[in-house]
Amino acid sequence: MRGLRQLTRRLLSNVPENTVYGGPKTQTPSQRVTLANLRQKYARGEPITMVTAYDYPSAVHVDQAGIDICLVGDSAAMVVHGHDTTLPVTLELMLAHCQAVARGATRPLLVGDLPFGSYESSSNQAVDSAVRVLKEGGMDAIKLEGGAPSRISAAGAIVEAGIAVMGHVGLTPQAISVLGGFRPQGKSVSSAVKVVETALALQEAGCFSVVLECVPAPVAAAVTSALQIPTIGIGGGPFCSGQVLVYHDLLGMLQHPHHAKVTPKFCKQYARVGDVINKALSEYKQEVESKTFPGPSHTPYKINAKDVDGFLKELQRLGLSDAATAAAAAAENIEIAGKQSTKSS
Ligand code: KIV
Repeated sequence: MRGLRQLTRRLLSNVPENTVYGGPKTQTPSQRVTLANLRQKYARGEPITMVTAYDYPSAVHVDQAGIDICLVGDSAAMVVHGHDTTLPVTLELMLAHCQAVARGATRPLLVGDLPFGSYESSSNQAVDSAVRVLKEGGMDAIKLEGGAPSRISAAGAIVEAGIAVMGHVGLTPQAISVLGGFRPQGKSVSSAVKVVETALALQEAGCFSVVLECVPAPVAAAVTSALQIPTIGIGGGPFCSGQVLVYHDLLGMLQHPHHAKVTPKFCKQYARVGDVINKALSEYKQEVESKTFPGPSHTPYKINAKDVDGFLKELQRLGLSDAATAAAAAAENIEIAGKQSTKSS
C-alpha cells in the first residue's frame, strides 16, 4: 500500500503546472521543479544548479540544499561501483539508483542518465529505455550523450515519445573508446565547431537543455549564445546557463585511486568529506580495540537490580554459573562506570 502511494506520488510529479483539470497552480518552494521553472530561470538569466546523486542519502542532501536538478549520472559506474569508466553500468543498475534517488529527492527535477548500450542501436531501443527510466526509475526526464547521428535521432525519438531529454556534448565519457581517454574537447577549430554543431542538433531534436563538459570557456560561451535552451557546464567555465558537479567530487570523496587521479581540474572541492569519514572510522576502530566504546552513554538498556538478581538465580538453576558470574560482573561494572560518568559530567 505504502509502495503504491509512493509510486503514485512519483508519477504525479510529472504532471505539469497547467493541468487540464486543476488549472495553473502557483509554485511553492516545496513543489517539484519543472521544465517551466527552469525556462523561467533561464529567461531571467538566473544560474541553474545541478548535482548528481545515486542513492537515498545523497538525494536527500541534494534536495535539502535546494538544488534545481538532480542527475542520476552514469558516473555511478566510477564513483559508486569503482569502475575506471562509465561504460560498464547497466540500465538495470541505473534503474535501482534512480529509484533510490526518487525516494530521497522530492523537489529537484530528476534526470536519469541513459547508460552506454541502452539507446544507440535504434530509436525503438532508445524510447524503450527512456520509458523505463521514467516508469520504473521515477525520473522526470532523461539525459543522453550526443555526438553520432544515431544519438541525435535517439534524442528526437525520445522527445517524440513525450519524454523530456537533456543532451550532453564536449567530453562525452561514453565515447571514451573513440575519444581515446577523458580528454577536453573543442580545443581546435574543427573540434570547437563540432561541439557547437552537436549542441544545435540536440536542440533541434527537442532537448530542453544541454550539458557542456570539458570545453574551453569561449566554446561554452558560443554554444550558450547560439542555443535558446539552457547550457549546464561542467568544466566549461562561467559562461553557461548553469553548472553541474559530481556529488563525490564536490564533497571531496575521492577514495578510488583512478577516480582521484582523473578527478577533473575544474572541480572545486567544497568539503573534505572523505577525510572526515576516514577519521571517524579510525577513531571507532581505536575505541573498540581499546574498549572505550561503548561507554555508559552508549549502553542505554537497563535491567533493574531485582531482575538482575532473579536472572542470576535462573542462570544458576540452568547450570550456567559462568554466565551468571559474567552478568553479575557486568551489572556491577556498568553501575560504577555510570556513576563515574555522572560525576565527571
Ligand atoms: O554521469 C554524470 O555524472 C554526468 C555529469 C558529469 C554531467 O554526466
